[in-house]
Amino acid sequence: MSQPQALRVLLTGANGQLGWELQRSRASHIELHAHDADTLDITDAQAVLDAVQALKPDWIINAAAYTAVDKAESETTLAYAVNRDGARHLAETARVVNARMVQVSTDFIFDGEHGHPYRPDDTPSPLSVYGASKLAGEITVQETLGERALILRTAWVYSAHGHNFVKTMLRLMREREQLGIVADQIGSPTWASSLAQAIWHATTINLHGTHHWTDAGVASWYDFAQAIHDEARNLGMLTRDCTLRPIATTDYPTPARRPGFSLLDKTSAWQALGTTNPVHWRAQLRAMLNELKQTS
Ligand SMILES: NC(=O)c1ccc[n+]([C@@H]2O[C@H](COP(=O)([O-])OP(=O)(O)OC[C@H]3O[C@@H](n4cnc5c(N)ncnc54)[C@H](OP(=O)(O)O)[C@@H]3O)[C@@H](O)[C@H]2O)c1
Repeated sequence: MSQPQALRVLLTGANGQLGWELQRSRASHIELHAHDADTLDITDAQAVLDAVQALKPDWIINAAAYTAVDKAESETTLAYAVNRDGARHLAETARVVNARMVQVSTDFIFDGEHGHPYRPDDTPSPLSVYGASKLAGEITVQETLGERALILRTAWVYSAHGHNFVKTMLRLMREREQLGIVADQIGSPTWASSLAQAIWHATTINLHGTHHWTDAGVASWYDFAQAIHDEARNLGMLTRDCTLRPIATTDYPTPARRPGFSLLDKTSAWQALGTTNPVHWRAQLRAMLNELKQTS
């Protein structure tokens, strides 16, 4: 089989969950230039222009984001500065050097009122500042780059690196005898590792347009927490049981509203990437916990 063409890639948000997984899953044909906020703040238009013009990448992968969903309700300006304006700076400079760009986005651009998995062309209607700022980022990247843009929406991301629901649950399950977990929000847990692999594959085939990517299967936060508990018990990462109780969203008020139903229809991405055997989120969770056990 012939080697894929060599690609020079500028990555932002390198120290986030996805950025970290992208770095470690990079194939040998990728010349990766990874930046976190310390070396490239995407809200700084001049810094973005300088970095992109100096490198002249084939692809920019924007894994940088303001992801504090609840804090975004009070830090609106910052959320938009990163999620909309930062994305715009990258897209505008990508256009200058004729690069392609991956803009990672979220299920939170939808309101969760649908009874079927959201397709890429369904009408967005975000409930939160975070969702609205991410949607604004999608729009600016799409308008600026057209067919040189790939918008990839994902959901419920976790990784052995960084902060996420899995690691928070493990900590709380060790500290407490019982926990109440929201059972009326439905989505698809997604290992950042599988998302990173999908992104690398997408760059090799110049995928463009708007697509959805999550791991396969469906869960409520309660189902996800129970799976974390049971898998961690099996692996010896929890030494005693913690009782989980399903609760309603209304029992756990948060500053940001979240969609109750945020399943994403992955058909277009699976077809484009030739995914014939998508991996269920529970198998991915087991793999991540195995890794976490070995590294912590
Ligand atoms: N996490 C989820 O459940 C989830 C769900 C759906 C979609 N997504 C999307 O998936 C993508 C990756 O998310 P993630 O979970 O990997 O997020 P993450 O772990 O929060 O990482 C985001 C990274 O962006 C960096 N960053 C923040 N502001 C920046 C700036 N001004 N300039 C440059 N870098 C900046 C952060 O650096 P500091 O830590 O130093 O601030 C952090 O390293 C994002 O687009 C996110 O919106 C995530």
